[in-house]
Amino acid sequence: MSGRWLWKAALAVVCLLGVAALTVDYFTSREVRREYRESAAEQAAASAGGAAPASFDGRMARIRATILLSTLLGFLPAVAVAALAALRMSRRFRATMKRKVEQFEREHAELERVERVRKDFVINVSHELRTPLASIQGYTETLLDGALSDPENNVRFLKIIRHNAERLARITEDLLTLSRIEQKRQKFEFEPHPVESLLEEALDLMRPIAERSRIALELSPPAAAAEAWCDGEAVSQILSNLLDNAIKYTPAGGRITIGATPGDKFVELWVRDTGIGIPPEELPRLFERFYRVDKARSRELGGTGLGLSIVKHLVAAHGGSARVESRLNEGSTFYFTLPCAEAARRGEPDAEFTAS
Ligand SMILES: Nc1ncnc2c1ncn2[C@@H]1O[C@H](COP(=O)(O)OP(=O)(O)OP(=O)(O)O)[C@@H](O)[C@H]1O
Ligand SMILES: [Mg+2]
Repeated sequence: MSGRWLWKAALAVVCLLGVAALTVDYFTSREVRREYRESAAEQAAASAGGAAPASFDGRMARIRATILLSTLLGFLPAVAVAALAALRMSRRFRATMKRKVEQFEREHAELERVERVRKDFVINVSHELRTPLASIQGYTETLLDGALSDPENNVRFLKIIRHNAERLARITEDLLTLSRIEQKRQKFEFEPHPVESLLEEALDLMRPIAERSRIALELSPPAAAAEAWCDGEAVSQILSNLLDNAIKYTPAGGRITIGATPGDKFVELWVRDTGIGIPPEELPRLFERFYRVDKARSRELGGTGLGLSIVKHLVAAHGGSARVESRLNEGSTFYFTLPCAEAARRGEPDAEFTAS
């Protein structure tokens, strides 16, 4: 029998005992009144010369025993059940309070984390903007102070200014992209796309860059034909970011392979390289904004450190997830999932995205 039914049965028994005790008390008090009347009448008869009355004390002792028994039967179990109920309630109250405190602590920690991320973000943005801005300011002043008429350096200084202005434009463009996706202002056109064509288009787009870096770019055809439910533009942006990284962080002579593994609800696309790899301790933070394993190297290569963050947000907007596996000096594989068109038609994946 479950705890709740046990309590109900106990309460029913206590109620029955209480009613029984009240009934016994009612009849007993009637008997007391009758005994008094009879005893008074017998006393009166005895004093008028009749028979001696039966012991009044003896009768009262019997009545007292009856009252005591009915009280014990009716009252004590009620007290016991009430005490147990109070104990049970206090236990429940303590458990509820403990749960509430734990939930409050979790929410508090999450708020602290969000606040920390926000502060870090402001610091990072200022830092990222300050360096190119300072450079533009410095070279402009140098030119105004006379370097403009220095034929040896003026063009070089102007090129540096242009390079930094382009960097600023890239950072602001990436930040705006991120904010558009995060605030769900980015418009996505979700429709079925054959996965193999998505991969081929991305390869065609990046092949000239890979060839310039003398890196082989290959498609590993998916084992089975699959269609993804996605925005073609967004997937092209995801794959370009991953291929751009793979090319940047793979030395000449290396190899990059892309492919896909169709699943039941999701299809997993992947980009594998034989590049420099990533130390294991850096992997958990890799998708954070501005996070770079080697800041100087990334800047040198024109990186803003926002590429993977954009990838993560675009993938999440499709209802998928992104992850990475890597071995230092051996290479990395970046994976991301997209909903299968068939499953999306059946409404199976978490389809928040299908509405937009
Ligand atoms: N395939 C890879 N191999 C080795 N390291 C990588 C690879 N992809 C990313 N990384 C590391 O992750 C960091 C973050 O990548 P992300 O794409 O976000 O920034 P980025 O490439 O430096 O700049 P951006 O993409 O904005 O031009 C890189 O700086 C690099 O250290
Ligand atoms: Mg990148």
